[in-house]
Amino acid sequence: MDIINIEGGKKLQGTVAISGAKNAALPILAATLLGNGKSTIHHVPDLRDVKSMLSILDVLGAKTTSTNGTVEVDASGELFTKAPYELVSTMRASFCVLGPLLARCGKAEVSIPGGCVIGARPIDLHLKGLEALGAQIKIKHGYISAKAKELRGADIFLGGAFGSSVLATANVMMAATLAKGITRIENAACEPEVVDLALFLKAMGAKISGEGSHLIEIEGVKELKAVKYTVIPDRIETGTFMLAAAMTHSDIEITNVVPSHSGALIDKMRACGVSIETEGDKMRVKMTRKKTESVTVTTLAYPGFPTDLQAQMMAFMTITPGISVITEKIYPDRFIHIAELNRMGARIFLEGASAIVNGVPKLSGAPVMASDLRASAALVLAGLVADGVTEVSRVYHIDRGYERLEEKFSNLGAKIWRESR
Ligand code: EPZ
Repeated sequence: MDIINIEGGKKLQGTVAISGAKNAALPILAATLLGNGKSTIHHVPDLRDVKSMLSILDVLGAKTTSTNGTVEVDASGELFTKAPYELVSTMRASFCVLGPLLARCGKAEVSIPGGCVIGARPIDLHLKGLEALGAQIKIKHGYISAKAKELRGADIFLGGAFGSSVLATANVMMAATLAKGITRIENAACEPEVVDLALFLKAMGAKISGEGSHLIEIEGVKELKAVKYTVIPDRIETGTFMLAAAMTHSDIEITNVVPSHSGALIDKMRACGVSIETEGDKMRVKMTRKKTESVTVTTLAYPGFPTDLQAQMMAFMTITPGISVITEKIYPDRFIHIAELNRMGARIFLEGASAIVNGVPKLSGAPVMASDLRASAALVLAGLVADGVTEVSRVYHIDRGYERLEEKFSNLGAKIWRESR
């Protein structure tokens, strides 16, 4: 099993280039199933989750190749319509093949992804949306089986107890591209990754408007063509490096970013006293003030503060003087990292869905365990500033979503290395 070791205390300097967005690439890869021919997707990050998605596309009968960040998917042949448990259970985003398969083949059988360490993660909104389009849905032996002779456009309200859903919006939008008539998704997710998927579908010939707002309108077309497309930069990876620079009191440049995608984080970090300058697709993050200010953070759907940066922001607050309150409004149980950060000397208490973080002067390196992807990134950030060596185990979580993380940090001057035990 691999372990990432970090010897804390090094300042970072230089430039880091951000990879393509995992959460945009995954639904876009699923959407290639809608295209007649060979799609070419550039700037696809080399990640375990992307490999899992390519395995699913292969099992479904598409032909995939992947070289240096460019993935080709030829979905022109006949497709199989069953996505098996062994593959879907490794990654929830694979549930995104349901909409495209149903739209293209009139039927699909996809394993229910199940819960995970960040919470229950239901799929009711995905099913509600597809049923509204006319699909007959059955749940049998752990699989969702969906059938429709013809999908028909409909007005669908896609909101749940925790607001809009990113992947349900993606699934329903993909299915609606080939439905007869007009679909309106109300309370649609506005995340940049949903916009990127809509732009990809539009390039394929779909008729979509309103992406990026809470009302997306899709007019169904007869068929979609395969195209070439480049995935947007990863705003969560961007945020992770921004926070690393602030925590280590460094001055770094981050390239290949879309600064407007990081608005909520930039706002909070500036309130903490961090200097952030943006120009085009570059960002300079500089922390020269000795003392940072604590802030209150509440995760919300975009453009609010992303839940996928909650753990990393918490790592920053552990060494910020004063008390900060971090409230999780998307996944109320996404707090497993607290116990591990506390093992490193942090003082964090959980009160319902809020973490109360009492800043401490220093963290202390320790063996810690990654529990999910973003929690693992938070432990790496904590390791960068802790006394001594931090050993992060179960790093397969990191490999799901961060491309060459330790190489990128090493290039910035951090002392970080991977070890197989
Ligand atoms: C996406 O998951 C991301 N995954 C997650 O990133 C991210 O944390 C999440 O959106 C929120 O931004 C991908 O894009 C692959 P949701 P998704 O449906 O779409 C509830 C990471 O670390 N809900 O927007 O599955 C749900 O429980 C990952 O990269 C329902 O109630 O999340 C949550 O409370 C982790 N019913 C809220 O909606 C449903 O049918 C938002 O979840 C679906 C969701």
